[in-house]
Amino acid sequence: MGDETGGVAVQAPVAELMALAERAARKAGALIRDERPESWQVQTKSSPTDVVTQMDHAAEDLLNDVLLGARPEDGLLGEEGGLQPGTSGLTWVVDPIDGTVNYLYGQPGYAVSVAVAVGDPLRPGHWTPVAGCVHSPGLGTTWTAGVGLGAFHEGRRLQLGAGPELSAALVGTGFGYRAERRRQQARVLAGLLPLIRDVRRIGSAAIDLCLVADGRLDAYYERGLHPWDVAAGMLVVREAGGQVLGLNGVPPSEHLLLAAPPALAETLRERLQALDAGRDED
Ligand code: IPD
Repeated sequence: MGDETGGVAVQAPVAELMALAERAARKAGALIRDERPESWQVQTKSSPTDVVTQMDHAAEDLLNDVLLGARPEDGLLGEEGGLQPGTSGLTWVVDPIDGTVNYLYGQPGYAVSVAVAVGDPLRPGHWTPVAGCVHSPGLGTTWTAGVGLGAFHEGRRLQLGAGPELSAALVGTGFGYRAERRRQQARVLAGLLPLIRDVRRIGSAAIDLCLVADGRLDAYYERGLHPWDVAAGMLVVREAGGQVLGLNGVPPSEHLLLAAPPALAETLRERLQALDAGRDED
């Protein structure tokens, strides 16, 4: 993930793209909410706790049909299906269910995340989202954003204030699925927890980012995120006036992504760097 376009200049009809992102996300959201399975087909991915259900696949197929049906020249990068390159310079970056574990357990913190980006979403620092939508059918709520148009929650324009000091910050985070990664994340969290108000683990990076944008979390950070987890949410944060950063001069990437109002983002970045939060696992 990142914040540059790799030199690609694309004239994007942002308002139209934002409307299409929302339409697709709401359709996929209705599918996963209304057709919640009675009998689960669960497969595992990177570890026995990293799951994918038949509804992740069904919702991604639907997103594919709606988005590429409307704009056949665009590319699409999906969590389940990988990259289908396009020719327009725009690539849809979609997570059909961000928070699959919540969805499986009947917890409401899951969302459909749909964004469209210029650049190459598989090269950190060489792409940027231009429109997006995070729709949570479980929570019954929707965020949208378009570059230059702003960020919105239920149609209400979002504008972040200065944010608190780190010591008063409510900070969201999340954990990967592999044991070594979690050991490292637990070490970082143990160092950060005494320095902040408290921590929340909601279970969907897309929702975490939107909660930063609308002020219900002060900050969020996580290591190991993929472009589809964050493409829409990072645009919502930026358009609300927040910052999305990486560590040690590296753009936000799988290495580490953090989001907060600007001053708090800088302080959190320094703390996470001091805790070596981007260090590879032993
Ligand atoms: C996961 C969620 C979770 C985060 C994980 C992600 P998924 O996405 O966003 O909050 O902690 O790192 O992988 O697997 O439910 O699409």
